[in-house]
Amino acid sequence: MTKFRKAKFKILVTSALPYSNGPIHLGHLVEYIQTDIFVRFLRLIGKDVIYVCADDAHGAPIEIKASELGIAPEKLVADIYKEHVKDFNDFSISFDNYYTTNSPENKYYSDLIFERLRKKNLIYTKDIEVTYCEHCKRTLPDRYVKGKCPKCGTPDQYGDVCENCNAAYKTIDLIDPYCVICKNKPIRKTSKHYFFRLSKFSSKLDSWLRKNENLQPEIKNFVFSWIKNGLEDWNISRDGPYFGFRIPGEEDKYYYVWLDAPIGYIASTENYCKKIGLKTEDYWNDKNCRIYHFIGKDIIYFHFLFWPAVLIGAGFELPHDIVVHGFLTVNGEKMSKSRGTFLTAREFLQKHNPEYLRFYYAHFLSKRMSDIDLSFEDFKNKVNNELAANLGNFCYRVLNFLNKNFDGYVENIDKNKELIDEINEKIKIIEKNYQELNFNEALMEILHISSLGNKYFQDNEPWKLIKEDKEKAHKILGLNFNIVKNLSILMSPILPNFSLNLQKQLNLEHLKWDNINFGLKNHKIGKEEILIKKMEEEAEATQFPLNLKVAKIIEVKEHPNADKLYVLQIDLGNEKRQLVAGLKEHYSADELLNKIIVVITNLKYAKLRGVESQGMLLAGDDGTHVGVLTLDKSNMGDKVYFEGYENINKELSYDEFAKLKMEVKEGRVYFENRELKTDKEIVKVEKVKDGAKVR
Ligand code: 2FM
Ligand code: ZN
Repeated sequence: MTKFRKAKFKILVTSALPYSNGPIHLGHLVEYIQTDIFVRFLRLIGKDVIYVCADDAHGAPIEIKASELGIAPEKLVADIYKEHVKDFNDFSISFDNYYTTNSPENKYYSDLIFERLRKKNLIYTKDIEVTYCEHCKRTLPDRYVKGKCPKCGTPDQYGDVCENCNAAYKTIDLIDPYCVICKNKPIRKTSKHYFFRLSKFSSKLDSWLRKNENLQPEIKNFVFSWIKNGLEDWNISRDGPYFGFRIPGEEDKYYYVWLDAPIGYIASTENYCKKIGLKTEDYWNDKNCRIYHFIGKDIIYFHFLFWPAVLIGAGFELPHDIVVHGFLTVNGEKMSKSRGTFLTAREFLQKHNPEYLRFYYAHFLSKRMSDIDLSFEDFKNKVNNELAANLGNFCYRVLNFLNKNFDGYVENIDKNKELIDEINEKIKIIEKNYQELNFNEALMEILHISSLGNKYFQDNEPWKLIKEDKEKAHKILGLNFNIVKNLSILMSPILPNFSLNLQKQLNLEHLKWDNINFGLKNHKIGKEEILIKKMEEEAEATQFPLNLKVAKIIEVKEHPNADKLYVLQIDLGNEKRQLVAGLKEHYSADELLNKIIVVITNLKYAKLRGVESQGMLLAGDDGTHVGVLTLDKSNMGDKVYFEGYENINKELSYDEFAKLKMEVKEGRVYFENRELKTDKEIVKVEKVKDGAKVR
């Protein structure tokens, strides 16, 4: 047994808390899958581990989104919570506790920590200048103020940095600043804020980082450089309206979400401990517990500086390790909605087995902070060649042969020492790599064992041997069976369902690392079934190049530089966009407002007379009249499609779009005689005659 396996310490593992303002997407899943593989491995080797997480429910964007939707933030976060939990379940993310930061436990610990810090004089107040919108009556966070870059003049830049020339500046320097919510000009205001004396922690943080040998060196290095450049005190309060915990003794000031979010790790632990009779202190105040945080590289500052300083200040144990992973790119580029490479967990599940993604990510997950690229082609190759053709096929083949020829009975085992030694060597390497978070290496070795098994089966030709020496053939299968059993254990952190189903077929269940051996005999297996199917060739013929969705027009404005154009803001359910539409001669603004329309979401974004159009609405045009496509029973974000065709979400140019012939007949839209619809109703067209073109 390895030292790590023997050692008696508790382990607490966390993943970063996802915000309650949107769905889980494939980028998030890199981290949850990474963490889950680790936790499942720890459980498998018998460690005393708990895995906690929560929704990050507070902050300005959540409050703003809820107010736009006209619902209470509590309702918004409750709805999103349900979706998140379902997504995580479907990807087999095995939290011991999944909670929310908007909880009594989190309020308790936030107040406790705030109070402890205040008593130690680590918190003080100071007046600062903030950007305030008098129309919305709120202080605007950086991301809610836009204007022209003071350096290069590019319009529509955020309050902190220009996306065009990369200049960094203060919100106050923006030319013609406007509030992102109402488009009015904000003012400057002074407001009292609470600051945490992060500057006092430089040397403590520095020595913690130096002593901690688990942290990734490449990350330590740039954290050291931040410390060297001097740490600034941290503003931990926000003015209302805000969704968060009110600061004790204040009327309308709240803890900044980034103060109470990591405290949510403690609160979720507490919530779990209460349920099953454990003690939170045993995790957060005990040197005998190892705390592992898993995070993405965008939140290093919070986890390597703010959070440990708060923990030190308030008297809690520091993390044993903070594992940082890189970003996800899709087909080599940043995920993009218009290119169809922004996939939510749900969208992925509609097409694929979630374990395909776990398998794919595991190939790239290591203790190094490298980015992961999800290339659709590589994805399919890996699933088909490695998962289905190698691993899945080997297991199936062995079980099938045993059932067919030996009534599913494993009697004796071929003593092939060379093969067994080779596999045992690999098992040691796999254990080490799991433990050290190099899942890519672990997976390679596992697949190698499966190849060795396949080769051993193939070389021995049991289908021939059985005719000459049945006993020998039976032994060969006995060893093969043990290899399959071992693979079901080795693979289980990465593919829990595959392993569970395989073990059911083996008539063995919930095997642990200790069950890895080559000695299981006199055993009858169950019925074999195909575990992994190859991903099918995509059916080209039924694809339709437009990705059409239901949207609602939520704002209509005149185009500043064009007489015939409107600038529309539309709501696509979980996303808002801006469209430019040539409808002014045909519709009044009032007629359009709140209309439910059909939008192409994968059209290349274009500037029309200087204003960006992020897609296009569909309308019929008979030469005289123009009438929009409209719906009344469907929801924003619903899919709109021609019966029998599948929308593809790949970026499309206007020219490619213009080639498609969609036509109006009796108030409905057709493409090659198929009708345009949603799951709830058929799309209608306003105002135009039969034969009108749809564009
Ligand atoms: O960046 C984010 O998505 C944050 N919601 C992560 C919070 S992690 C922790 F500190 F709570
Ligand atoms: Zn405003």
